[in-house]
Amino acid sequence: MVGAAGLAILSVPFIESWLPSERARAAGAPVKVDISKLQPGQQIAVAWRGKPVWVLYRSENMLQTLQSDGLRRRLLDPDSSVATQQPAYARNALRSRRPDYFVVIGICTHLGCVPLFRPEVAAADLGPDWPGGYFCPCHGSRFDFAGRVFKNVPAPSNLVVPPYHYLSNTLIEVGVDGDQPGKS
Ligand code: FES
Repeated sequence: MVGAAGLAILSVPFIESWLPSERARAAGAPVKVDISKLQPGQQIAVAWRGKPVWVLYRSENMLQTLQSDGLRRRLLDPDSSVATQQPAYARNALRSRRPDYFVVIGICTHLGCVPLFRPEVAAADLGPDWPGGYFCPCHGSRFDFAGRVFKNVPAPSNLVVPPYHYLSNTLIEVGVDGDQPGKS
């Protein structure tokens, strides 16, 4: 796992290399994301339709945490019952086409702040029961590594998963479902 500073450094060249033209961005063109250099526990950010979209390469530890009963009991909507929060192919336990890579719009479902990636388990400022995930600094909403919101926070629903698909094992296209619904 890497800290926030390391992630920021990782994100910059990537965003610059993949940003579509100004005109394409204005039109909401799909964005291709090269995930070939991501290591487990790292995430990168791109812009799509003026919004931050994150791609997180979930480590084995992260995946185990997501599937624990203890975590499920702390979540408001562990089974993604609100259909508008993700495409049908991401309405599963890990909210993704593939278990390892998580794609999500980085905007809090409370009032639209950008949550922080806080992968450190039991981070001192988030408490001993913090399992790692996303923390919104505006009003304290918490989300797990699948963008599922915790109970008793201001945010009313899980983070939104955008449409996306895999062009290859190392290339994701954000903004369209592609022609392979239900397939990784
Ligand atoms: S905007 Fe995220 S908790 Fe309010």
